[in-house]
Amino acid sequence: MSDEIKILAIESSCDETAAAVVVNGREVRSNIISSQIALHTLYGGVVPEIASRKHIEKINQVIRQALLEADTSLDEIDAIGVTYGPGLVGALLVGVAEAKAISYARNIPLVGVHHIEGHISANYIENRELEPPFLCLVVSGGHTHLVRVLDYGRYEILGKTRDDAAGEAFDKVARAIGLGYPGGPKIEKVSHEGNPHAVEFPRAKIADGPYDFSFSGLKSAVLNYLNQCQMKGIPIVQADIAASFQKAVTDVLIGNAMKAIDEFGADKFAIAGGVASNATLREGMREACRKRGVEFYYPSPVFCTDNAAMIGVAAYYDFINGKRDGLDLNAVPNLKLGER
Ligand code: KG4
Ligand code: ZN
Repeated sequence: MSDEIKILAIESSCDETAAAVVVNGREVRSNIISSQIALHTLYGGVVPEIASRKHIEKINQVIRQALLEADTSLDEIDAIGVTYGPGLVGALLVGVAEAKAISYARNIPLVGVHHIEGHISANYIENRELEPPFLCLVVSGGHTHLVRVLDYGRYEILGKTRDDAAGEAFDKVARAIGLGYPGGPKIEKVSHEGNPHAVEFPRAKIADGPYDFSFSGLKSAVLNYLNQCQMKGIPIVQADIAASFQKAVTDVLIGNAMKAIDEFGADKFAIAGGVASNATLREGMREACRKRGVEFYYPSPVFCTDNAAMIGVAAYYDFINGKRDGLDLNAVPNLKLGER
């Protein structure tokens, strides 16, 4: 008998249809992602109904390809891991229904995975030595969470956003300055040409939540600035606004993360989620961690944005800890981290 535990993972919580095969929680044998970005770009953001339909069209072929690339078959799969929340309910349901169908038909154990737990677990793929406990900042299109990873599957949320997520702010500001969707990578690209000190946008501090975030005021400040320029006939320099906005977001993310590192005496810190692929954020975090002698971890960009490999990693640790789900597993659009 093989001592390998092979997980087939499925992710469909937003606009990527993804499947992966992960062995023993750290080795990614395949990672297939069918992105719908081009489709949603037409509408300036993700259209939930279109996302669900596209997932249905793509999911079987993505799973088939993941098994093929991993040179395996369902006969060799020990468990199926699937994202069951949080996310868009119709999109999540496609992955959950698919996973349940395979589980039932082939009698393979089923493990429901929390999407944020997946993002955090992406750090285990390329950092084989990383183990809990550590601190992690999850920054994506839907989430901004500062989390203490106490153990595999055990989390304490220190802070989160009170309004927009960091990635959402990137997307909204990009739209306002005419860059289009998805905003994060586009803002990062034009920022290279801009001056991050051109406009002093606000850095929000939350009085009763030292680790909480707020980005809606920053977004409004950008919109006000644009209006003022228009009224006064001042030319709008897209690159300067993008660079100044990016600096404001990263300053706040770095500030809160370092406060938590100092407070909890953490010696390991990781970032995760789509915004974690931002080079300004990575460099800022790396420098701040270096000054404190804290080990800094981050996934490659392909493991930052939504993918199924990260779900396979999280599912592996849940699986070896005995977690199993039944055919009553349902999509939970607002699932909280740490809830079962
Ligand atoms: O993790 P993800 O793929 O999906 C969610 O779970 O939300 O994150 C997508 C978000 C989008 O808001 C996108 O604009 C942002 O991540 N993003 C970035 C970058 N790449 C993606 N934000 C800043 N800089 C980037 N390079
Ligand atoms: Zn995500």
